[in-house]
Amino acid sequence: MTDVAAKDSLTVTDNRTGQTYDIAITDNTIAAKDLGQIRLDDEQPGLATYDPGFVNTASCRSSVTYIDGDKGILEYRGYPIEQLAEKSNFLEVAYLLIHGELPTKEQYDAWVHEITYHTFVHENVKTFMQGFRYDAHPMGMLMASVGALSTFYPDARNISDADNRHMQIVRMIAKMPTLGAWSFRHAQGKPYVYPDNDLGYTANFLSMLFKMSESKFEADERLVKALDVLFILHADHEQNCSTNAVRSVGSSQVDPYSAVSAGVGALYGPLHGGANEAVLRMLKRIGSKENIPAFIDGVKDGNERLMGFGHRVYKNYDPRAKIIKKSAEDVFEVTGTNPLLDIALELEKIALEDEYFVKRKLYPNVDFYSGLIYEAFQFPPEMFTVLFAIGRTPGWLAQWSELVQDKDQKIARPKQIYTGDRELTFTAASERWS
Ligand code: CMC
Repeated sequence: MTDVAAKDSLTVTDNRTGQTYDIAITDNTIAAKDLGQIRLDDEQPGLATYDPGFVNTASCRSSVTYIDGDKGILEYRGYPIEQLAEKSNFLEVAYLLIHGELPTKEQYDAWVHEITYHTFVHENVKTFMQGFRYDAHPMGMLMASVGALSTFYPDARNISDADNRHMQIVRMIAKMPTLGAWSFRHAQGKPYVYPDNDLGYTANFLSMLFKMSESKFEADERLVKALDVLFILHADHEQNCSTNAVRSVGSSQVDPYSAVSAGVGALYGPLHGGANEAVLRMLKRIGSKENIPAFIDGVKDGNERLMGFGHRVYKNYDPRAKIIKKSAEDVFEVTGTNPLLDIALELEKIALEDEYFVKRKLYPNVDFYSGLIYEAFQFPPEMFTVLFAIGRTPGWLAQWSELVQDKDQKIARPKQIYTGDRELTFTAASERWS
């Protein structure tokens, strides 16, 4: 121990031994490995932190996305989400996330061309997808088919080569809508529609989803714009559960298709991307405004959660929810209003005034209104998370790319606190059962 501790340090005394330690503080964090020097004796392991769900542990340095949860701020590479949603488009935002800066006109055109050129998938991917059961959940199909791409592009495992990484990033952003749309068509028993490369990214996605016998599918521009905005809003969200899955799996240096497939799996869960589906089911179950007070009482009694409310990071209104609420109005202008919107608005109003929610800083999150919009597009609830996954793909890939180039990163391998038995004597089954 030094006599005068450095200003940017933490001085801790281990009361078990009376020994004092100075631990450096960098970027308002201490390095967990520095705690390892604090130990009872040489026989015991060093001190560690216990942090299920990583609620107060930074796993990386990242320059992709900034969130201030208390103030309700979300920025991609420094640009506020509100400005990107209003003035940019999904492919430009994808470029920004991946490359770290906005494209010049030439860079943008080349990027759009590359993505458009790679929208088709190998015919065997189609055959593979057709092998799923008729009622397969589209997220299961998406997770499997993204993972399967690793077998079509074995060169993808060469992750240390920058050009190679770029190639896989382009392929994945380009092919996700194709895979997502085909998993949708599959459940409906409809023929898979090939990409129409005369259309923009989002318009082409809508064509692959909804085109039937017409020679060209042209979606209403307002719907194309609304879906594009939804993709932008979902494009990244720093170290959320699925991004952490992508990084954790990617830390083994596996190819990016396998890593992103793990991200799709994480997103599938009801506490993450599956929440919008749960919101819609909840609104349908509530059924009418009169039933809201009884429902809220049930939530407060701990019987269930108010889905679409609360966030690990936002302790304020989720900035994405505000933008989505506005998008919902634009969409309903085209499709006609959804009666569930009235229930959602009333539910929000009541919850925001209720002490239970106020005290816990529970506000609407991105999923509270997105399900209503998706339903207006006539997507079945199972498709909602697929849309989230398509939007999140550039974020996953930007984070993966950052991970593989980060010299500080190691294979993810958390510690545990062992609570089981030790040194039991094994008796063979033949003796135990005799
Ligand atoms: N309804 C009722 N109570 C809630 C809710 C909710 N939606 N969310 C949190 N709480 C309560 C919780 O019971 C706890 O109360 P207490 O302190 O009395 O035990 C307190 O608020 C803190 O909750 P927590 O579970 O410790 O918070 P968390 O940070 O671990 O969970 C969450 C975050 C998003 C999982 C949670 O708020 C939740 O389950 N929300 C509903 C599901 C949802 O909408 N998920 C979408 C998240 S946004 C999309 C994304 O980015 O993935």
